[in-house]
Formats: sequence, structure tokens, C-alpha cells
Amino acid sequence: MSFEAGWYAVAIAEGLEPGTSAGTRLFDKEIVVWRDQDGASHAWEDRCPHRGMRLSFGFVRGNHIACLYHGWQYDTAGQCRYIPAHPNLEVPDTIKVVTYPSAEAGGLVWIWSEMTTEAPVPPPADFAARPVRSLYVERSAESIAAAFVSGALGDFEASGPSVFETVIDGARLRLALQPFTAERSALHIVRLGGEADPTAIAAWSEGLRRGLEAPLPVRCAAPAAHAGA
Ligand code: FES
Repeated sequence: MSFEAGWYAVAIAEGLEPGTSAGTRLFDKEIVVWRDQDGASHAWEDRCPHRGMRLSFGFVRGNHIACLYHGWQYDTAGQCRYIPAHPNLEVPDTIKVVTYPSAEAGGLVWIWSEMTTEAPVPPPADFAARPVRSLYVERSAESIAAAFVSGALGDFEASGPSVFETVIDGARLRLALQPFTAERSALHIVRLGGEADPTAIAAWSEGLRRGLEAPLPVRCAAPAAHAGA
């Protein structure tokens, strides 16, 4: 199983407070996800166009994000609007952060995996969901998806290339896979229905992480050939 260009969950929406930013990765590309003071979320390349500082280290100021290094400020479209060293300068339109299409649906922040102005397909449909947690797993997204499909770690139903559902302790959970790097992934988990004992869900999710990170079964070695056989 391999993942293609598409919409991927990168955060639990409720965990991204207004006025905050967070750095993440998708297919090893560094991305800053931030929420402005009006409540809208944004996903951009995590790189200031000035000298490359990570914007996730910066500060949200109203509906701008300010770079930590020299304080350049970018508006919600990624356009640089203010350079502290030249406060009266009308900033050229060319100074702009690369942005990704993003959306919120089903309690998650989704981004289109390619840098483009508009995603070729609409984002996932919205639905009611409650946040559970994000789980970080030292394993590739492909092998996690394969483990879910195999049934080796329980009953998981695929509801999209990177989205799976299961029922734990009476609660229906949705798990959205985020391919971080070749060997690291995140699972963003929301509850679609049913009541859940938080302790049982916490124990299950830790067990799931351990199961996913467990070494693959060792194959039996072929018998050594004997001299003269
Ligand atoms: S590196 Fe961002 S303002 Fe200079």
C-alpha cells in the first residue's frame, strides 16, 4: 500500500488554540499549522522567505504570524505585510510564504499534500466528532495501514486511503493516518459515537502503539548446508 497526493489529517482541531502554531511534517515536508485570532487554521511551508527560520518558532499576532528571527509578519494568505527594520516599506507581493490548501472537518485539521493554490478534490466532508488523542508511532504509514487491513491488531474498517474506523469499549473511533517521514507516522483519533471510558481508551491506544512498533516476526532461517552434503 502506498500513499498518493490527497487530503491528510495533521492535527486534532480542538488542540490548535487560536493564536498558536505548531510544526509538523507530511511526507517529510516541514509544515507549520497555525490558528489566527479569528479562529481560522492555516497550513504553510514551515520556512520564512527571509532567511529560512521555521515559522512554527514564531508568534501569532492577531491574524498575522511573526517570524522569530527578524520579526517579518505574514497575513493569512501568506503575504508579508510588515518588516520591522523597514516599517514604512510597502512590502513587495513577491515576499510570500508557500501555502497548502487546508480545511477542518470531523474534528481534524486536513491539508492537501501538495503545494498548490487549490486542491483538485474537495476536503473530507464534515461530521460530528469528539477529540480523543494523537498517537505518534515509529513506523511507516504504509505498514500501519497494512497492519490495520490484515486484522492483526483488531478489527479496523478502511473508510478512505488513510482513514480507519474501529469500535473500542462501545465507542466508535476514527483514526486518520499522517505520514510524517518514511519511518514515523501520527494517528489522529476522534470519537464518532458511543460513550467511552477514557482510561480504557488510553490503555487501548498505548497498546496499539506498542503493537504497531513491535518488531516484525523473525523469519525462520534456512538450515545451513553441511559440507559434503
Ligand atoms: S528569517 Fe524570518 S524574518 Fe528573518
